[in-house]
Amino acid sequence: MNYKKVLLGLGAVILTGGLCSVNNVFSGQALNFQNNSKVMYLAKAEKGSQEKVQSVYNFEAKPLNIEECARCHYSIFKLIKEQGGKHKKVKCTDCHTQFHVYNPVKKNWAEIMPKCTTCHGLIHGGNFTACLSCHSDPHAPITKLKVTPELAKACAQCHPNIPKEMKAFPSKHMQVACASCHHTKHGYIPDCLECHKPHREGQTTKQCLVCHPAHTPLNIKFTKQTPNEDCKACHQTEYHKIAITKSKHHNVACVQCHTKHKEIPKCERCHGKPHGASLHAKFPNCLQCHIDVHNLPIKR
Ligand code: HEC
Ligand code: HEC
Ligand code: HEC
Ligand code: HEC
Ligand code: HEC
Ligand code: HEC
Ligand code: HEC
Ligand code: HEC
Ligand code: HEC
Ligand code: HEC
Ligand code: HEC
Ligand code: HEC
Repeated sequence: MNYKKVLLGLGAVILTGGLCSVNNVFSGQALNFQNNSKVMYLAKAEKGSQEKVQSVYNFEAKPLNIEECARCHYSIFKLIKEQGGKHKKVKCTDCHTQFHVYNPVKKNWAEIMPKCTTCHGLIHGGNFTACLSCHSDPHAPITKLKVTPELAKACAQCHPNIPKEMKAFPSKHMQVACASCHHTKHGYIPDCLECHKPHREGQTTKQCLVCHPAHTPLNIKFTKQTPNEDCKACHQTEYHKIAITKSKHHNVACVQCHTKHKEIPKCERCHGKPHGASLHAKFPNCLQCHIDVHNLPIKR
């Protein structure tokens, strides 16, 4: 019996069948390219050039959108979102017309970064060209306006009326630098108590400012609401006299008579000339008889 021939035939069937099935597996897996790319290239090599390549690049590449920038540059995205001010209107790519092109060998950072002047020009004039020396962070141009040395030098150029005011009422605040009071960041308003003790306990900066304008603190002003307690710290004697006097001046506030600091009122402003003309001619000073304005002697 020619069993050898039979075996050979069978082997051929198994072999070809086997080959067929191998082919089928490959064509099936070609769709699944990422899972077994090595096998795919093998298959392509075997099939030769007749077969069509199934491209994975069969789409149009869209430019990165702002959400995609945000995903990688999360901290910048968050900064603009929370503190960007009006830059919240501006997309990353409105400013960054080019990006991911920094080359440390070429040292091209300055060249590739957005220029503020493209959109704003020289908004403050020709003296202020180094925008980032004051606007330290382009992604938060106002909130991150720290008091840099450049900013500290420039206060008077944008606020010329303040030094003018100061000269009109000279005080020791002229020797205090703008940035010593307005520290931390642009627009910061200091508390007087950062540098001074109050005249009396519980006095607030708001109250200080009623009497002392911040830039001209010696141009002291009283208002109708200024309480006698505000004078007490420095004028104990008068304060106590008025507090205990039985005369009707007890109900007259210090500032009703003394409308300005150090001003001495004339009695006639409120009383006119109450007695006979001859009496007033003889005694021109009312206090010759009434003695103490803060504690009038009265029979009661
Ligand atoms: C108003 C214009 C403007 C907008 C809007 C803007 N940038 Fe910038 N960005 C700049 C400028 C100017 C610089 C250069 C700062 C420097 O050189 O110090 C910069 C620097 C950068 C830098 C490099 C320096 C760093 O801080 O890491 C990255 C990254 C960046 N921006 C990403 C973004 C992304 C992301 C967005 C949007 C979410 C965005 N920027 C929006 C102007 C802008
Ligand atoms: C897949 C993450 C990824 C995405 C998306 C991405 N970036 Fe970047 N970007 C980086 C990395 C990483 C760097 C280099 C390290 C760094 O500065 O944070 C970089 C650097 C930068 C720089 C500074 C250096 C340079 O060569 O310009 C800018 C500006 C920038 N990206 C802007 C953008 C903008 C605008 C977008 C959206 C249009 C964006 N990036 C999207 C990852 C990303
Ligand atoms: C692509 C254009 C563009 C660029 C570049 C740009 N800005 Fe702006 N910026 C704007 C727009 C738009 C506004 C909003 C103007 C408005 O509504 O009045 C704005 C507003 C501002 C404001 C006012 C913010 C507020 O909240 O009031 C500041 C400060 C500012 N930009 C500073 C800068 C600085 C500093 C740079 C450079 C680092 C810069 N900008 C670069 C477009 C730009
Ligand atoms: C010496 C410091 C300094 C420099 C330098 C400087 N700025 Fe400003 N900038 C300021 C200050 C302070 C403000 C006022 C901020 C506010 O309104 O609270 C301001 C305001 C702005 C505003 C908002 C103006 C408005 O009317 O709303 C823009 C825009 C601006 N700067 C852009 C620029 C640009 C562009 C440059 C560079 C050409 C620049 N700045 C240089 C200090 C500076
Ligand atoms: C480039 C011009 C510019 C420079 C430089 C500048 N300022 Fe201003 N400043 C402004 C503008 C604009 C405003 C906003 C005015 C408004 O909102 O009416 C302002 C507002 C202020 C305010 C008021 C904030 C509030 O809450 O009312 C103070 C305080 C102030 N600046 C102090 C300073 C001091 C101190 C310096 C120097 C360290 C300085 N500024 C430098 C332009 C400038
Ligand atoms: C002794 C501290 C002190 C000094 C020094 C000082 N300021 Fe002020 N400034 C203040 C205080 C406090 C206020 C708030 C006043 C108020 O609310 O009545 C203020 C308000 C301001 C304002 C907003 C209100 C206004 O009057 O327009 C500006 C602008 C300002 N200062 C600029 C300056 C400049 C510029 C200098 C330097 C020439 C300066 N300041 C020096 C304490 C100071
Ligand atoms: C950053 C510190 C600082 C702040 C904030 C400050 N001052 Fe002064 N002030 C001074 C200094 C320094 C002097 C000079 C003191 C001296 O030489 O004895 C002074 C002096 C004064 C004087 C006397 C002026 C003179 O010429 O004799 C008055 C009044 C005054 N401050 C009121 C205030 C008021 C009100 C505030 C709040 C609006 C305030 N100061 C905020 C530092 C400050
Ligand atoms: C009722 C008005 C009034 C109020 C409110 C007021 N002051 Fe005075 N302050 C004065 C008078 C008046 C002087 C004396 C001026 C003189 O010597 O000619 C003075 C003087 C000062 C002096 C100069 C040094 C001294 O002690 O003689 C400082 C500093 C001062 N005040 C700070 C403050 C501070 C800070 C506050 C708020 C906590 C404040 N003042 C509230 C009226 C007031
Ligand atoms: C911080 C201290 C202080 C405070 C607060 C203060 N004064 Fe004075 N006051 C003085 C000083 C100092 C003098 C000058 C004394 C001198 O020249 O002998 C003065 C002088 C006066 C004078 C003139 C005295 C004279 O001899 O001509 C009157 C009036 C006066 N103060 C009223 C007031 C009134 C009213 C208040 C409250 C609304 C007040 N003062 C708050 C410190 C103060
Ligand atoms: C009814 C008006 C009136 C009232 C209210 C008044 N004063 Fe006077 N004060 C005067 C007159 C008038 C003088 C001048 C007295 C003189 O020439 O002897 C004077 C003088 C002073 C003097 C200078 C020192 C002295 O005794 O001559 C001080 C300080 C003073 N007043 C503080 C005060 C204080 C503080 C209060 C409130 C607690 C107050 N005054 C309430 C009218 C008033
Ligand atoms: C700001 C106004 C004002 C000034 C200034 C003023 N007084 Fe009076 N005085 C009054 C008032 C209000 C009364 C109470 C009137 C009433 O209730 O009928 C009064 C009452 C009096 C009385 C009556 C007292 C009593 O208890 O019956 C005498 C006396 C008097 N004043 C004297 C003077 C003399 C003297 C001066 C100047 C040294 C003076 N006054 C300055 C407002 C003032
Ligand atoms: C020669 C002394 C003398 C002189 C000067 C004098 N007075 Fe009198 N005054 C009196 C006597 C006495 C009374 C009554 C006292 C009483 O009733 O308690 C009086 C009463 C008053 C009364 C209270 C009137 C009433 O109806 O209750 C006032 C107000 C007054 N004088 C204001 C003045 C004024 C203002 C001057 C200065 C322009 C002045 N006096 C000058 C002696 C004088």
